[in-house]
Amino acid sequence: MLNEIKQKAIKEINQVNNLKELDNLYRKYLGKKGEVTNILRSLRDLSEKERKEKGKSANKVKQELENLFKEKKLRFTDNSSYQQKDWIDVTAPGILPPQGYPHPISLVQRQIEESFQSMGFSVIDGLEIETEHYNFDALNIPKNHPARDQYDTFWLKNLDLLLRTHTSPMQARYMEKNNPPLRIIVPGRCFRHEATDASHDVQFYQVEGLMVGKNISMANFKGIIETFLKDFFGPELKMRLRPGYFPFTEPSFEVDIQRENGKWLEIMGAGMVHPNVFKSAGYLSDKWQGFAFGVGIDRLAMLKYKIDDIRLFYSNDLRFLKQF
Ligand code: DAH
Repeated sequence: MLNEIKQKAIKEINQVNNLKELDNLYRKYLGKKGEVTNILRSLRDLSEKERKEKGKSANKVKQELENLFKEKKLRFTDNSSYQQKDWIDVTAPGILPPQGYPHPISLVQRQIEESFQSMGFSVIDGLEIETEHYNFDALNIPKNHPARDQYDTFWLKNLDLLLRTHTSPMQARYMEKNNPPLRIIVPGRCFRHEATDASHDVQFYQVEGLMVGKNISMANFKGIIETFLKDFFGPELKMRLRPGYFPFTEPSFEVDIQRENGKWLEIMGAGMVHPNVFKSAGYLSDKWQGFAFGVGIDRLAMLKYKIDDIRLFYSNDLRFLKQF
């Protein structure tokens, strides 16, 4: 009799799905009028000898059931101790760990890389700490050249080192070590020592592009850059080239794209690689031609996602970052 009740109770406890059911079950067996309680109470009518024997086993059953109830109750109330158990309910729903989001700069950088890779460009890493030689001299910007004023530079103490002001130094480094023909892009972080506002920060990202070969012309540049811009902004995009000036290209131009309001917006600098840049890298400038360009990744990301303040990229505000 007692054993039957015990087996039945164990079975029912195992099937319980919530606290309320568990409480009802507790009352059914161990409450004032519970089945086990009734048996314990009925012992009063037995002889002393019988009472001792049966009482012992009845109390044991009572204790076992109490423990089972307690354990089961923990499963519904206290998650931590539930999780510490050495078994796992494989049918329980899983807990999704918090997920991260790609930063909009990384997202855009990846799109740029994919687009240029599909046109045969390799992605090359540059150095954030550069020498004066590669950041300026090798790019046809010697000391006292007025163009240096445009690049407000973070100089490192007591060295001829600096934080690169653009990704262009990698043009010179790469050409020194590699023979033409070549097609590369160099994405990376740059630094300028200037006051911040909605469109300027002391750090920003650029992608440098360089293509060198035989008979490379501005028409090649236009074709490649238009393909990229349509890839990135959509097939409707309109672009134009305007004359510009950079010491490391001749001729130089600016690339504008047309915005929804019809206005033109400058988004990149470009040009045909200057003979002095070829010379300093050891290329024969009458044998090779090439084009180069530099575009701001932050700029492209701001246009694509309609972000009006560049400083948001570096503010670590999760409300901003979670949108990507
Ligand atoms: N380095 C230039 C800047 O940061 C951008 C640039 C212009 C890069 C023309 C080029 C280029 O490669 O040909 O202002």
